[in-house]
Amino acid sequence: MAKDDDAGEDAPALLALGESKGSVSGIPLRYLTRHGIIAGSTGTGKSRAMQVLAEQLANSGVHVFVSDVKGDASGFCAPAFVQDDESETPSETETKWNERNKLAPFEPQSFGVNYWSASERFIPFRFSVASVGSVLFSRLLSLNPTQESHLAIAFSYAKKNSIPLDTPEQLLDVLDALVSTNQRGISPSSISVIQRKIIALQESGLERMFGKPSVRLEDLGGLNVLNLSDARSDMAVTMAPAFLLQKLFASLPEVGDVETPQFVIFFDEAHYLFKDANKSLKDLMVTMLKQIRSKGVSVFFVTQDVTDIPDEILGQLSTKIIFSQKPMTEKGNARLKALAKSFPKAGFDIMEALKGLPPGTALLSTLADGGSQTVPLQVKVFAPATTMSVVPDDALRKACDPALLKKYAKRDAAPKAAPKAKAPAAPAPKPETRAKPPTQNPKPATRPQPVPSAPPTPKPAPAAQVQPVRVKEVVKEVIVEKKVVKRTGPGILDALLGGLLKLLQFILKAAGMVVTALIIKPLKSFYKYLTKKPVRMLYFLLLLLILYVIFINWAIVQGFLDSLRL
Ligand SMILES: Nc1ncnc2c1ncn2[C@@H]1O[C@H](COP(=O)(O)OP(=O)(O)OP(=O)(O)O)[C@@H](O)[C@H]1O
Ligand SMILES: [Mg+2]
Repeated sequence: MAKDDDAGEDAPALLALGESKGSVSGIPLRYLTRHGIIAGSTGTGKSRAMQVLAEQLANSGVHVFVSDVKGDASGFCAPAFVQDDESETPSETETKWNERNKLAPFEPQSFGVNYWSASERFIPFRFSVASVGSVLFSRLLSLNPTQESHLAIAFSYAKKNSIPLDTPEQLLDVLDALVSTNQRGISPSSISVIQRKIIALQESGLERMFGKPSVRLEDLGGLNVLNLSDARSDMAVTMAPAFLLQKLFASLPEVGDVETPQFVIFFDEAHYLFKDANKSLKDLMVTMLKQIRSKGVSVFFVTQDVTDIPDEILGQLSTKIIFSQKPMTEKGNARLKALAKSFPKAGFDIMEALKGLPPGTALLSTLADGGSQTVPLQVKVFAPATTMSVVPDDALRKACDPALLKKYAKRDAAPKAAPKAKAPAAPAPKPETRAKPPTQNPKPATRPQPVPSAPPTPKPAPAAQVQPVRVKEVVKEVIVEKKVVKRTGPGILDALLGGLLKLLQFILKAAGMVVTALIIKPLKSFYKYLTKKPVRMLYFLLLLLILYVIFINWAIVQGFLDSLRL
């Protein structure tokens, strides 16, 4: 169902996407409770279609969250154009838009919208390590199952002992504490690996996304845009949406099948979502995406290439808005074919249509009442009511709720872990230089309590200051030690043996190449030649049979040849 021709009084709310054969085409709001996709090559109109849908969802009271990687979805706070009441004649743009939207009276509009960023540029989109949770954090660090279980212990240790876990730095401290207090089942070498990975993560620039105040769900009501245009090379682009999914997943109650979505998330440039994700992180995201629907959350992937999205997700999509696609790779072509096949038969060649749609026109297919997919319609997408231009940062900040800007602007000083001597977190290269593990267990009371709004201590305790450096030093020492081993390295005999081994490897490799070139390749080509036409194979078998007969009757053949010679 994509047209509203016979929409009556009780007809479900329809999000008007555009015009198709003289009628308004769109998506019934109730089918937006399932995930969807907006795909198409660059410049075909994906972001505008997203804008049109987001505007109407916001007008229907649905909470909308747009993850905007390029910053071109900034226009929600400004109307498409400012109507000049004085002027009798409409402007050129006004005429153009009115023409495009003649079926849906065009009314420029602006929205109250909050802009978030992974930096301090707008409202900082920040999460406490504890709210991200040990599973997502493990996947983020690519930990193996043993390390993952260590991290889970660290999270529960922090919780049990009321140790704040807002920043990666505090997580490093908790990991240190696990070793220094000899917690059962803890392997210092696993802790050391986790710590190294956390330090690498801190250095990747992702650290700024952690801390307090952590984003609160109640502050994500209405229309929200996460502008990631200043973080495109960062892992933040992958992680910020994953953190949001985790937050929604963990906080929202199950609502089952609902009539309207509560939350719709648009992931523009969705390929970034999976770009830097390792396999286990991807798997986790796929699981979350599969299950989050029952919490009233639906997700729209906006992407240039359908190859970007994992198959398991593509199989779950109900609403498909597909603009012209020019697949560059064989894989892309195969996915496009699969996508075309996933539509029911239309009166035209879907694959061909997908290749040749004009910009701003898409194929739209949604769910039908029986749960099947509707026949795709060519829809000329309406122009958005808000501006398509990129809005300057100043105006975006002005549009934000000042209370939220104030609330999230200042990162709370993270309380430091209790000053204490610690055992080495890594297999110690120089044990004598290290402090011994303390004999007493640190008691919760002696540990720093969470003081979210506490001002930074003017003179932090020396041990607390040294601590982060110490963990880094462990890593440095390990690296330095590696270098030393290299320098004093192998003796002459080792070098000789190494050289011989390399020579042997080379000879074997060369022999392999000769055998491949002289025997395997010709045999392969001959086999291909034979199998191309069955009759060739028959001749070949006949030849083999004749040779075999000659071979077993060699005495007779020889006698016959001798008689010929006489
Ligand atoms: N519905 C529309 N109404 C008016 N103009 C449109 C519409 N769709 C697309 N356009 C025109 O096409 C341009 C590109 O559209 P858009 O930014 O949505 O492309 P895109 O597919 O998101 O591209 P990219 O992949 O590069 O982000 C717009 O700036 C606008 O000029
Ligand atoms: Mg775009």
